[in-house]
Amino acid sequence: MSKAAFARRAVEIAMTEGPRGLASRTTTFLRWRILALLEANERTRPLYYRLFDSTSYWEQRYADSRDSGPGSRGGHRQFKADFLNTFVDENEVETVLEFGCGDGVQIELAEYPSYIGLEISESAIQECSERFATDETKSFFLYDPPYFVNRGALEAELVLSLEVVFHLVDDATFEKTMHDMFEASSKYVIIFSSNHNEPTPELHVRHRRFTDYVEDEFPNFDLVEKIENEYENRVSDFYVYEKQMG
Ligand SMILES: C[S@@+](CC[C@H](N)C(=O)[O-])C[C@H]1O[C@@H](n2cnc3c(N)ncnc32)[C@H](O)[C@@H]1O
Repeated sequence: MSKAAFARRAVEIAMTEGPRGLASRTTTFLRWRILALLEANERTRPLYYRLFDSTSYWEQRYADSRDSGPGSRGGHRQFKADFLNTFVDENEVETVLEFGCGDGVQIELAEYPSYIGLEISESAIQECSERFATDETKSFFLYDPPYFVNRGALEAELVLSLEVVFHLVDDATFEKTMHDMFEASSKYVIIFSSNHNEPTPELHVRHRRFTDYVEDEFPNFDLVEKIENEYENRVSDFYVYEKQMG
């Protein structure tokens, strides 16, 4: 962006959002610039991982009327829904709990008897509550990983995580979310994600080899199936875990 365009944008924001809005946007911009610099260098990258605030990123994104992303649009959205609806039907799953339901566009295609969606973004929860205002089978709750203490109150036969794991940038949030997911499942966990370690210049994306973590931390779950994505330009595949009974 040229200096002139930059100044024009600043004036535009000041006119529409006032001086406070401009100050807040400037702070956000500077924070992103610093994080990008930290990310670009291998030595400082761990600091970026620790400092990146996923909740602020997603909340701002949904508050700005942006959506969950291209993964829950068009044919790819249908591909995800077809696999999950067939799985739920064939395995007679009654209860589904999703960590990171987003704006709810993907869930519009879900055919589940009973569904709970958890989200870190208040605006996304608001959107889901409006989108499914008359749907008695779907409930939504705000999810705040450090303050989520679930001792069996929330449990489902199938726990879902769809294109969320590669957004868990900091290690503490990744570990807490994985524990909350597996501990809430009475039978299956399905993760739809990439599965290799790779930093990316997109600050809200960090690819992780999560299957090693699952193997170490949740030995009572077996990886029973991996379904490759039909869309070559997408990074996620389905990983189906089943809890050992007895
Ligand atoms: C790419 S969107 C996917 C949304 C939805 N699962 C879908 O497939 O359409 C990623 C979502 O993960 C949510 N998210 C980020 N960190 C999370 C966490 N620690 N736990 C649960 N959800 C999280 C974001 O707010 C965002 O809505």
